[in-house]
Amino acid sequence: MPRFTLHINGKKHRIIADADTPLLWILRDELGYTGTKFGCGRGFCGACTIHLDGEAIRSCMTAVEYVEDRRITTIEGLSENNSHSVQKAWLAEEVPQCGYCQSGQIMAAAALLKRNPNPDDATINSAMRMNLCRCGTYDRIRKAIHRAAEDQG
Ligand code: FES
Ligand code: FES
Repeated sequence: MPRFTLHINGKKHRIIADADTPLLWILRDELGYTGTKFGCGRGFCGACTIHLDGEAIRSCMTAVEYVEDRRITTIEGLSENNSHSVQKAWLAEEVPQCGYCQSGQIMAAAALLKRNPNPDDATINSAMRMNLCRCGTYDRIRKAIHRAAEDQG
């Protein structure tokens, strides 16, 4: 089986896997980054959202061969001590309900604010529309993104 070098949250990992293994499987089952969640496994729900070179991607739909030597960030590596403006806003607005979708929501929101530091509601709705929340926390997510945008100044 092929070997790959992955750069995750600033650490280098050597793994052995079939080239088409989904990155989500490697993150959770091989390396213990369980903050990233499995939802649908088909690219529809966003629970598995992480950053690849700073962009939000679906790790369930991304083969490991595609990410070698690229910068992978999971929720565990988004900040030291949950200090990212999005994480602080999530706490302040008490966004999560069951919590299952929330790491994906936070990673999608952080990528959005990097692209657009002050998004309006329509931009937020459009950027976040593929991150589903069965608990219906969408209003609080929107508020938290506005709060994080203000916090970023
Ligand atoms: S688990 Fe990846 S999009 Fe649903
Ligand atoms: S908080 Fe429960 S699915 Fe989103």
